[in-house]
Amino acid sequence: MSVYRVGIVGLGLGKQRAGGYLRNPDARIVAACDTDADRLRAFVAEHDDVRPYADYEEMLDAEDLDVVNVSTPDWMHLDHATMALRRGRHVLLEKPMVRSLGEVDALIRAVEESGRTLMVGQNYRRIPMSVLAKRLLAEDALGDLFYAASETFQHKRRQFARSPWYASAEHPRAALLGTGIHAVDLLRWLIGEVEEASAYGNHIAYPEFPGDDFTMVQYRFANGVIGRVGVGYGTVLPRGEGGMTLQLYGSKGSLSNERYYIGEPGAGEWVHEEAPPMKNAFWQEVDYFIECLDAGDTPAVDVREGARNVAACLAGVEAAATGRPVTPKRY
Ligand SMILES: NC(=O)c1ccc[n+]([C@@H]2O[C@H](COP(=O)([O-])OP(=O)(O)OC[C@H]3O[C@@H](n4cnc5c(N)ncnc54)[C@H](O)[C@@H]3O)[C@@H](O)[C@H]2O)c1
Repeated sequence: MSVYRVGIVGLGLGKQRAGGYLRNPDARIVAACDTDADRLRAFVAEHDDVRPYADYEEMLDAEDLDVVNVSTPDWMHLDHATMALRRGRHVLLEKPMVRSLGEVDALIRAVEESGRTLMVGQNYRRIPMSVLAKRLLAEDALGDLFYAASETFQHKRRQFARSPWYASAEHPRAALLGTGIHAVDLLRWLIGEVEEASAYGNHIAYPEFPGDDFTMVQYRFANGVIGRVGVGYGTVLPRGEGGMTLQLYGSKGSLSNERYYIGEPGAGEWVHEEAPPMKNAFWQEVDYFIECLDAGDTPAVDVREGARNVAACLAGVEAAATGRPVTPKRY
């Protein structure tokens, strides 16, 4: 087992990812890059064996890296991932993988030409309600699913004021792609392929956001299940509320977030299992990525799985914009 030399670009969420590499005995962060001098200085002040770079290309050229962790804004993902792949580096890339079908095709080409591994961070597969849902479905405990729903109601003004690229008209980022992709990925992982999307959106609660700040999409899955994903960016709720939810309804039972009910309709109570203490989902993903590299395995969310997520989200965005059902491009 080798120790993977890691370079991180983007020290917002990238700092979270760093926690995973720092705790993994098979990885060592040797370099970090950010154009924000304060963030870069603060990071290397805490990790004095990490070499700082203000220029990404300079880091890639100067360092003999095995892995590049790309945690920069979405609109840089294609370039930053491709630059690393072309130099023979494996890449862990944040969601949303990229922003358009053209970018999806370009990234697939870059990964396939490089022969390297690219994994997309879809950390919501690892939280307790997702793990519980996956287990119940694998055990056929809920019977045949007929409906699934996931909603995320956030208030994003403060975060987007700190990181203005999130709400910039120059690099538009639909709420359904930026945030809804977690729910879309979760439903696809639990249910299967999306066949068609129909959707509505509006632009009422957060008018400064460039585009719909609320979108509700219905998906028809290939196996007949209907799914619904909702995302709101201007929601007013108490602290700690509005995080991603999950409801599953099947012929033998139902799941609501971390509770499930199986049995006679109307007879009993929800079961709420105590989830075991969970390691930070971002760190779990880093561990899994390193395991895949070591074993030569393809990560579950590789570039094609990432492509299917982006295509399903973009189908929803197009359906909301046109008022017509849209079939996602197949990957
Ligand atoms: N999986 C999740 O739950 C999750 C959560 C948050 C963010 N994300 C994703 O992570 C990515 C980053 O989001 P964030 O919230 O950390 O944003 P952020 O704005 O807080 O951080 C991005 C960092 O990249 C740096 N940067 C910008 N251009 C650069 C360049 N050319 N070279 C080097 N550094 C550069 C910025 O200075 C900034 O420090 C986004 O794609 C976002 O969607 C995922």
